[in-house]
Amino acid sequence: MSLDHLLEWIPKGGPEEALARQVEFDRLPRHVAIIMDGNGRWAGERHLPRVEGHRAGVDAVRDVIETSARLGLEVLTLYAFSVENWKRPAAEVNTLMGLLKRYLGLELETLLRNNIRFNVIGRADALAPDIRTELLDAERKTSKNTGMIFNIALNYGGRTEIVDAARRAIEAGIKPQDLDEDRFSNLLYTARQPDPDLLIRTSGEMRVSNFLLWQIAYAEIWVTDTLWPDFRCRHLLEGVVAYQKRDRRFGGITPAVPAGVR
Ligand code: FPP
Repeated sequence: MSLDHLLEWIPKGGPEEALARQVEFDRLPRHVAIIMDGNGRWAGERHLPRVEGHRAGVDAVRDVIETSARLGLEVLTLYAFSVENWKRPAAEVNTLMGLLKRYLGLELETLLRNNIRFNVIGRADALAPDIRTELLDAERKTSKNTGMIFNIALNYGGRTEIVDAARRAIEAGIKPQDLDEDRFSNLLYTARQPDPDLLIRTSGEMRVSNFLLWQIAYAEIWVTDTLWPDFRCRHLLEGVVAYQKRDRRFGGITPAVPAGVR
């Protein structure tokens, strides 16, 4: 949106303000995707059960969503629950689902106030009926919003998404010769959204973990050692500033395309 809109929200005179002033608002990443990692380690460092890390992670989710909307991102995608996460103990899965439900109950007002459109990506039909009801309600109530899209990846897998897109192509009777990259992109869960320009991963791990495999083809990757529950506005701004220093070549050669220029 604008520097002023962001400055209204962040503490004055701190590192956030200094970083906000470094951001070039005319070449923001359009789409930022985040692999939220390190909740378990955060809890372990404090001798707490793993679920306390997830609970603390919700504060980071809140902060990052409002920062992203005020910054003026078009799309923010958060990886909240993968198709592989069902392998975790049932109590941990139940806590994650409970936190999601609670988050939606408490934060719908924030999404509406910030003109954010809530959107679920993943095989949501496999989630419990009460969670699906909450998710659908949040999608419906925010569907007329015109600001940032907040994608939450739930029961999400990158390979599953590609298989689902292929199935859709077959079901729609698309002829092989009519299928190209643009058309295929519009069969993905993120249809009609720009691909992520910036992929952030917390907790220092150098993996993409089956996240947005098709869409991150040309994303800039920024990894921070910060564990997700400690991730705040300041870290997001650090990632954006680092992104704006990169040269994006999209497989070509010089002259390089500066980040944010398409
Ligand atoms: C990875 O940390 C994190 C997750 C699998 C879940 C992320 C969920 C939240 C932040 C809370 C709920 C979200 C919303 C939107 C309300 P990990 O457990 O793999 O950490 P570790 O690698 O340190 O064990």
